Amino acid sequence: MNILVTGGAGYIGSHTVRALIHAGFTPIVVDNFSRGHRNAIPSDVKVIELDIANPKIINVLRDNNIKGIMHFAAHSQVGESMINPSIYYENNVVGSYRLIESARQAGVQHFVFSSTAAVYGEPEVVPIVETSKLQPTNVYGRTKLMIEDMLHDYSSIYGSTYVALRYFNAAGADESGEIGEDHSPETHLIPLVLETALGKRPHITVFGTDYDTIDGTCIRDYIHVTDLASAHVLAMNYLVGGGESRVFNLGSGNGFSVKDIIDTAKNVTGINIPVEYGERRKGDPSTLIASSDCIKDILGWNPKHSELSQIISDAWRWHRLHPSGYDDI
Ligand code: UFG
Repeated sequence: MNILVTGGAGYIGSHTVRALIHAGFTPIVVDNFSRGHRNAIPSDVKVIELDIANPKIINVLRDNNIKGIMHFAAHSQVGESMINPSIYYENNVVGSYRLIESARQAGVQHFVFSSTAAVYGEPEVVPIVETSKLQPTNVYGRTKLMIEDMLHDYSSIYGSTYVALRYFNAAGADESGEIGEDHSPETHLIPLVLETALGKRPHITVFGTDYDTIDGTCIRDYIHVTDLASAHVLAMNYLVGGGESRVFNLGSGNGFSVKDIIDTAKNVTGINIPVEYGERRKGDPSTLIASSDCIKDILGWNPKHSELSQIISDAWRWHRLHPSGYDDI
């Protein structure tokens, strides 16, 4: 069965391409390569360089007999979205609208969508469940919520079906060490800590030490990218099997502070990582932890790689083998 993967050259998309192949699907990647990496995609996978907003997608869907779409292509940096919202509305909202409409015109029925915990903003209660209040505090989260709304309306009115997966903190790398996280600029905690371990950065700055948490630093729910990828495959199988449209959280259900991450990285790497303590980063909620009971109950999802030490050791393997990311391949 042929599945179109938009943004398949990106971090989570490229791991999902591998999971799809492993599960017997045939992924076809559409990416405009504005941020993705061509060598993150296996050489035998068909790759079409195209923007999701381009109406030529309709022909791609028809010509390749596409049965479902996994939609990863998006800008995904919270900070950037608050400085340059225009590209977030254009690429994420307008681009997704054009893709969803192209799918309707080509008769493609099923969508698995990359959403985010950022749709919840600052939660009133943790763990966060899918019915928690949706009040994004940044443009990135708002654009993802708008796309969820579009999918909902298309589903209830035109009859297509979708699963939106609200990721918490995606981290780690494929255990082969062949693909991993390579953003430019990098803003995420785990890759920054590991780049510091490699000596590429003089120190890691902890953003805020006065949060209302056990050690004063922010708590997040880190989920291995391989476990995220397997959830996408389950979601597509569910839709193809006649499942109704749904939204699921995707996290490990465990919270770790910034200090926990640095301590675990020191243990995994055996390197004394220099730390500086700085001010809070604007817009950071204190604690984000997911309840993923829904996806476990309904899709039988079972995260197998999301122990913190495994997340960090798999990420470390990627960073050590490719200190300059995909430029090394
Ligand atoms: N942090 C530091 N120092 C750094 C970088 C991050 O202390 O140099 C801290 C942050 O303040 C935060 C934690 O590490 O407390 C994790 O930060 P990340 O930037 O790695 O991830 P976020 O939790 O900010 O963001 C992630 C995703 C977003 C998504 C969001 C949902 O990357 O796409 O979760 O809340 F929107």
